Amino acid sequence: PLHQETYLVNGELRIWRGQTSEVYSTISSTDDYKPTLLGTIPTLGKKEAISALDAAVNAYDNGQGLWPTMKVEDRIACMEKFVSQMKTKREEVVKLLMWEIGKNLPDSQKEFDRTVEYIYDTIEDYKQMDRDSAKFHKHDGVRAHIRRGPLGVVLCLGPYNYPLNETFALLIPAIIMGNTTIFKPAKHGVLLLSPLLEAFQNSFPKGVVNILYGRGRTVAAPIMQTGKVDVLALIGNSKSANALQNQHPKSNRLRLVLGLEAKNPAIVLPDADLDLAITECIAGTTSFNGQRCTALKVLYVHEDIVEEFNKRFSAIVDALKFGNPWEEGVKLTPLPEPDKPAYIQGLIDDALAKGAIIINEKGGETSENYIFPAVLYPVSKDMRVFQEEQFGPVIPVISFSDIEEPLDDMAESNYGQQVSLFGKDVNTLAPLIDTLVNLVCRVNLNSSCQRGPDVYPFTGRKDSAVATLSVHDALRSFSIRTFVALKDN
Ligand code: G3H
Repeated sequence: PLHQETYLVNGELRIWRGQTSEVYSTISSTDDYKPTLLGTIPTLGKKEAISALDAAVNAYDNGQGLWPTMKVEDRIACMEKFVSQMKTKREEVVKLLMWEIGKNLPDSQKEFDRTVEYIYDTIEDYKQMDRDSAKFHKHDGVRAHIRRGPLGVVLCLGPYNYPLNETFALLIPAIIMGNTTIFKPAKHGVLLLSPLLEAFQNSFPKGVVNILYGRGRTVAAPIMQTGKVDVLALIGNSKSANALQNQHPKSNRLRLVLGLEAKNPAIVLPDADLDLAITECIAGTTSFNGQRCTALKVLYVHEDIVEEFNKRFSAIVDALKFGNPWEEGVKLTPLPEPDKPAYIQGLIDDALAKGAIIINEKGGETSENYIFPAVLYPVSKDMRVFQEEQFGPVIPVISFSDIEEPLDDMAESNYGQQVSLFGKDVNTLAPLIDTLVNLVCRVNLNSSCQRGPDVYPFTGRKDSAVATLSVHDALRSFSIRTFVALKDN
C-alpha cells in the first residue's frame, strides 16, 4: 500500500501523524474485481486547512506578493520546470489512474499526455496574452494599456473521473495568471497526486500551490467561511458547488469557475449514416463507463430507424469487453464509487416499472463493483433515468417522430452543455444547428460529445457551467482585465 504521509503547505511537505483515510483501488489483481486497499491519505482538519489558506493569502499578499508581481518569463520558467519534472512521473501516475479509478490503459495514458500538452499550450497562450498586452489602444483621446491581472486566492476542487486532467485544467491557468491556490483532490483519484507533490514544491515559490487531503466539509468549508477565497474553482456537482459558495460570508465577491452536470443528448435523424451514428453513440455512452460530464446520456432516435438502431446498437454494447484496465481491448471497467451499481440498478428498476425494457442481453448484469450497461427502451419523461444525470452505465433510448420533441426537452432541461446531431441533409441540418446552439454551447455534427481539443471553449448553459474552461478561455476565467489610462492633455 502507498501511504501518503505528507501534504503541501507553504512550500513544505508537512508530515501528518494524525488520523488517515483508506483509499481503495477500484480493481484488484485477482479476477474477482473486488476493491482492495491501495493506500492511505491524511485526514486533515480545520487547523491544517486554515494554515494552507494563510499560506496562499500571504503568498498573494493583496497582489503585492512575489508570485503575483513576478515577471511573465519567470512565471513561465517555474511552469516549465514543473512540467518537465511531471513528465518523469508518467508511468507512476498512469498506473495509479488505472488502479484508483479503473480508467483503461489507453485512456489513462491519454489523460496524462493530454495534461502535459495542456500545460505547454497554456504557456504558449500566456505568452501571446503578454504580447497582446504590450499594445496600446486609443479612443476619444484616452490611451490605454490593457492587460490581465490575477484575482487572488483560488480554492480548487477536482472530479474523480479526470483527477489529473481536469484538476490541472483549473490549477494550471489559475497559477500561471499569478493567483495563489489551495487544491483538494476528489475522494477517488487522490493518491495519483503523490508523485507530483515534490514537483509542485520544487517549481513554485512557497504558498503558491497548497495541496490538502480530507473531506470537503472539514477542509474546504472552513476555508470558505473565512471569506478570504476570491475564486471557487470546482469541477463536479452543483450540490457541492452551492454548498461551498454559501459558506462564503460575502459570496457576491466570489468569482466562480464551475464545470457541473450535463445530460447531453444525441439526436439521430432519419437520414443519418447509421453505422457512423451507432459508432459515435457507443463511444459517447460507454467511454469510461459513461462517467464523463460530456457523455451522451440520452439517445433520441427517429421512429423510422429506431428498430434498426436498437438492434445494432445493443449488439455492439454487448460485445464490449469488460475487464481490468490494463488488459488489451478492455472498454468497460469496474466503477470507483461503491454505491454506483446500486444507484444505476435503481434507475433501471424505475424505468422497467414504468414500461421500458432492457433491450441488450447483458444489460444490468452485475458483479461486486460493476454493472453492465443496460440499454433501455422506450424511455419516457416520467422515468428517473430521463430526469437524472446517471453518470454511469445505463443508456436511455427515446424514439421521436417530430424534431420538436427533443428540442422541447432540451429547452426544458436544467442543463445545456452539448448535443450530438446525426443527419445528412444540409437543408434540414442548417436551421436545426442554429436552434441547437442557443440551447447548448457545442453542437457536434455526426460525432459524439467531448470536451477536447482543449483549445476550444468548454462551457455550458443553465446548471451545466459557470465560466469557460479551455487553454485560451481559462486564462481569462482566472484573471481580470486591468489598465492604465493616459489622457491626451
Ligand atoms: O467529465 C467531464 C469531462 O470534461 C469530459 O471530458 O469529453 O474529454 O471526456 P472529455
